[in-house]
Amino acid sequence: MSVPGCTMVIFGGTGDLAHRKLAPAIYNLHLEGRLPSDFSLVGVGRKQKSDSQYRQELASSISKYSSSTWDEKQWQTLALKIHYHAGDMRYAENYLPFKDAVETCNIESGGNGNYLYYMALAPHLFTPIAENLKLHNMTAGESGWRRIMIEKPFGYDLSSARKLNNTLSAIIDEESIYRIDHYLGKEMLQNILVIRFANTIFEPLWNKRFIDHVQISARESDGIGDRGRYYDRVGAMRDMFQSHLLQMLALMAMEPPLKADPDTIRTEKLKLLNAVHLWPEEESKSNLIFGQYYGYMQEKDVAAYSQTETYTALKLAVNNSRWQGVPFYLQTGKKLEDKLVKIVIQFKSPPSFYFGDPLEGVYKERNDLINLLTLKVQPKEGVAFQFNVKKPAAIEEVVPAEMDFCQPCAFLINTPEAYELLLLDVMNGDQTRFSSWNEIESSWILTDSIHSQHRKSLGNFDIYEAGSLGPESAADMLIRDGRHWW
Ligand code: BG6
Repeated sequence: MSVPGCTMVIFGGTGDLAHRKLAPAIYNLHLEGRLPSDFSLVGVGRKQKSDSQYRQELASSISKYSSSTWDEKQWQTLALKIHYHAGDMRYAENYLPFKDAVETCNIESGGNGNYLYYMALAPHLFTPIAENLKLHNMTAGESGWRRIMIEKPFGYDLSSARKLNNTLSAIIDEESIYRIDHYLGKEMLQNILVIRFANTIFEPLWNKRFIDHVQISARESDGIGDRGRYYDRVGAMRDMFQSHLLQMLALMAMEPPLKADPDTIRTEKLKLLNAVHLWPEEESKSNLIFGQYYGYMQEKDVAAYSQTETYTALKLAVNNSRWQGVPFYLQTGKKLEDKLVKIVIQFKSPPSFYFGDPLEGVYKERNDLINLLTLKVQPKEGVAFQFNVKKPAAIEEVVPAEMDFCQPCAFLINTPEAYELLLLDVMNGDQTRFSSWNEIESSWILTDSIHSQHRKSLGNFDIYEAGSLGPESAADMLIRDGRHWW
């Protein structure tokens, strides 16, 4: 089935996201022949520039950030579909020429009447722009569709998110709002459901009887770069936990959906999110770690005595019968030793009477006798399973062995970037990989409550060295439980 084309308008067309993620994704789709021929793009920014200047700027970003090699001939055909419009879109008086420009562009590219508005700018600008689009009859039309894509974070907390959602619902219907969490476009996140539900060996073990605990890590080696103005206001909890980490948790832990349609999957994720809590409150101080990398306060646009966390680690509980008593340890942070995203499921140890007590020295480490299932999200997608074998020639020694599946090595294709899939999804009208309002509301309720618990137990805020594994208190949180981060 062919994908319907559209005119895509990027508000924030000269910004970081447009350059680093959106333009490279569009270029890759074009190279792979997956971009509809009646697609066109209008980048919107405040500075004056010509179409050709804008195209040149995008070309240099694409050659830097795209995973595909540069093809000048292909670029020349794509460039013809790209236009630029200058204007401050907070103000209604700038919309008449803008509407004209966008409609002309749509007609020139085939006149399908479909418009996709992409909000790639600071959240406080979403509302005035959406209201202006409505005022100028740009959110509905006689033919074609109108859809809005909204970048995360959707609000800064529960009350701002609710306000934004009320505004949007008064402007356009829920089915036309696509709230992005780009992690949902990552191959391995889509793969979680397949691994769980297309393999009869895993699902029967996916519960408190067999799983000791779960770890979800999203570690980054980069700092905040020049995003200080945004980041200092949000921190790791609002930037990564409320969205990416909770979506990974929801997919990993939700109940099997009865059907693979967007609503059913989102309903199951929502039920799971509603059951998540910080591990019992009386211990909450040691189950919630905030950290900041050394040198953060000297970053551009960061407050001199900033208390914003660039690292967080938490121990969470999922209060339902499947997961009762199973800890979920989550961590995310910037300026760490490595860039790596993964979910590790540690299964319970086998009965010790059979192999002796692991603490008595037959095994090198207590952790030698466990099974681990690792879902590797990045840098290289894959799945690894650790199990136990007898060491050859040794009488009693049991050693860990690993089965390691590397997805790009097996399929020999470049994994599509998350944004490529998400853009095609929106053109196809498929909401599966987007967050529903209810999920966002639930994740803000949890995030706000964790923030307020953190404020109440002041003092748990550690400085860590850039390039390290993060605050020591995060390691201690697991050591206390007889475990360690994988
Ligand atoms: C974004 C966050 O949503 O995700 C960034 O705002 C973070 O702070 C980024 O760096 C991580 O995405 P990825 O795809 O590089 O893991």
